[in-house]
Amino acid sequence: MGFKEEIERRRTFGIISHPDAGKTTLTEKLLLFGGAIHIAGAVKSNKIKKTATSDFMEIERQRGISVATSVMGFEYGGVKINILDTPGHQDFAEDTFRTLTACDCVIIVVDAAKGVETQTRKLMQVCRMRKTPVMVFINKLDRPAQDPFDLLDEIEKELQIQVNPLSWPIGNGETFRGVYNLFDEGLYLFSPGGQTLPEGIEIRDLNSPDLEKYVGERAAAGLRENIELIREVYPGIDRQEYLEAQVAPFFFGSALNNFGIKELLDCFIRIAPSPLPRETEERTVRADEEKFTGFVFKIHANMDPNHRDRIAFVKICSGTFRRNTNYLHVRSNKMLKFSTPTAFMASKKSIIDEAYPGDIIGLHDTGNFKIGDTLTEGEKLHFKGIPSFSPELFKYIENADPMKSKQLAKGVDQLMDEGVAQLFVNQFNGRKLIGTVGALQFEVIEYRLLHEYGASCRWENLNLYKACWLEALDEKELAEFKKHKAQYMAKDKQGRDVFLADSAYILQMAQENYKKLVFHFTSEF
Ligand code: G4P
Repeated sequence: MGFKEEIERRRTFGIISHPDAGKTTLTEKLLLFGGAIHIAGAVKSNKIKKTATSDFMEIERQRGISVATSVMGFEYGGVKINILDTPGHQDFAEDTFRTLTACDCVIIVVDAAKGVETQTRKLMQVCRMRKTPVMVFINKLDRPAQDPFDLLDEIEKELQIQVNPLSWPIGNGETFRGVYNLFDEGLYLFSPGGQTLPEGIEIRDLNSPDLEKYVGERAAAGLRENIELIREVYPGIDRQEYLEAQVAPFFFGSALNNFGIKELLDCFIRIAPSPLPRETEERTVRADEEKFTGFVFKIHANMDPNHRDRIAFVKICSGTFRRNTNYLHVRSNKMLKFSTPTAFMASKKSIIDEAYPGDIIGLHDTGNFKIGDTLTEGEKLHFKGIPSFSPELFKYIENADPMKSKQLAKGVDQLMDEGVAQLFVNQFNGRKLIGTVGALQFEVIEYRLLHEYGASCRWENLNLYKACWLEALDEKELAEFKKHKAQYMAKDKQGRDVFLADSAYILQMAQENYKKLVFHFTSEF
C-alpha cells in the first residue's frame, strides 16, 4: 500500500462524555467490532472509579494500567482506526484537553436520560475552539429517555452546534423497539442482547406493512411521522459541513446492548476525516508531506522510583516515522533516535519499524520531552494547538527540606513537563505557585516528589479565581497594568505574563479598566 493510501485510511479520534454516559462501554463495543478484543470487559479503561476519589494512589495505579489503553488501534472495513482514550475523571480534565489536540475528530456520548452534562459542555468547548468535527451518540435508549426532539434541541443549544440526526429511535426504555437509520435507510429492531431484525427480514421501506408487525401500529405511525418531519427539517448530511465542524451527525442506540454501534461505526469510517493538516507557528503541515513531523501530546511517567522512565506519546502529523532514525527535537535542537518506538493495537503494545500520519507512537523517554514538543527531520517547526488552560486551584509550594532544594526543583520541573500541573512564579515575591484543575493533583505531586525525587514540599493555600494570559494591544497599557497589579503578576514556565485574578469581580474590573489588554483563559490565542 502506498503512503497516500496509508494516510487516507486512518481515522484518529477520541470519545468524550460526562462520566457514566457510556464511553467505556462504547469503546469496548467498537473494539469488539474491530476484532481487537473478543470478550466484553477486556478494556481496562482510564476510567477512574468514583469510590476511589479519596485514594489517589489507587487512581495512579489505575492510570498506570491505562497506558496500554491510552491508544487503541484496530482495523475495520479496511480502515485503520485509532481511538485515544480520555480520562473521564474531571481532575484529569487537562489530560483530556491535551489528548483532544491529537484527535482528528471526536465522538460525544450523551446519556439519553440526562442529556448534556457539565463535563460534556467543557470538552465541547475545546472541540469548538479547535473546530474538531464531532458526531454524537445518544446512549442508553433501553432506559427511559428524554424525548429525542428535546435532546436534539438541547444539544444544539448547549453544545452550540447544528445537529443532523442520522438515526431515529422508536420509543425508549420498555417501549424501545429500535432505530431507523436515515444514513443507509434501514430499520433495525431492538431486543436486549443486541439482535437486529429476525434473520432474513429487512425493512428498508418505511411504508412496508411489516413495520406494523414488528413495532406495533402506534409506534409505526409515530415513526413515519417523525421521519417525514426530520427529512423536511434536516436535509441529509453534508460531509463538508461535518468536516468543518458546523454540523454534528447524530445517532441513537444502546452501547451496553451493542445496539446502534455498527451503524455509527459504518457511517464514521465513511465520513470521518483522515489526518488533517496542522498548524505550526511557521506554516501549515499537510499529512501527505514526505518528511516526518510529529508532536508530543501526553507523557506517562512510570511511578516506580527504580525505573523513572517515561513514555512520550507522539502524534504523527506528516511523513513516515522510522525506527532508529535521527530526528530533530526542535526545542533542544538535539538529534534523537528511537530504537523501541511502540504502537498500540487494542491492549497490546508492539515495537514498530514505521508509522504514518494519524498514528500515535509511544517513545521511551529519559526526560528529554515535554508536552507540546515537536520532532521533525530538521525543519524548525512548532506545532500549535496544545494550549495550557487556566487552572482552577492554586497553592504556593514551599520546600520542606532545605537539604533537598535541588531535588525539589528538578522534580517540580519534570512533573510540569509531564503536564501534571502548571507552575507560575509570582513576580512580586518570587514565590512558586502551582495551579491544577483538580484537588487530587496536589496529593499526586506531593507523593511523587517524595517517592521519585526524595523531595518534601509544603503547600500554602491561595485563593485565586483564574490565571489569565495577557495579550497587549498597547504595550504602554500593559506596563501600566503590571505596575498597578504588581502583586498579582506572575510568569508561566515559558516566561509569559500571567495575571492572577483573585475573584471574578476583580477580573471583570480589570477588563473594563484596561480595554487594550485581552485576558485569555488559555495560553494560546
Ligand atoms: P463512562 O466510561 O462514560 O464513565 O461509562 P461506562 O461505559 O462505564 O458506563 C457507565 C454505566 O452505564 C455502566 O454501568 C454501564 O454498564 C452502563 N451503560 C452503558 N451503556 C448503557 C446502555 O446502553 N444501557 C444501559 N442500561 N446501561 C448502560 P455500571 O453499573 O456503572 O457499571 P458496570 O458495573 O456495568 O460496569
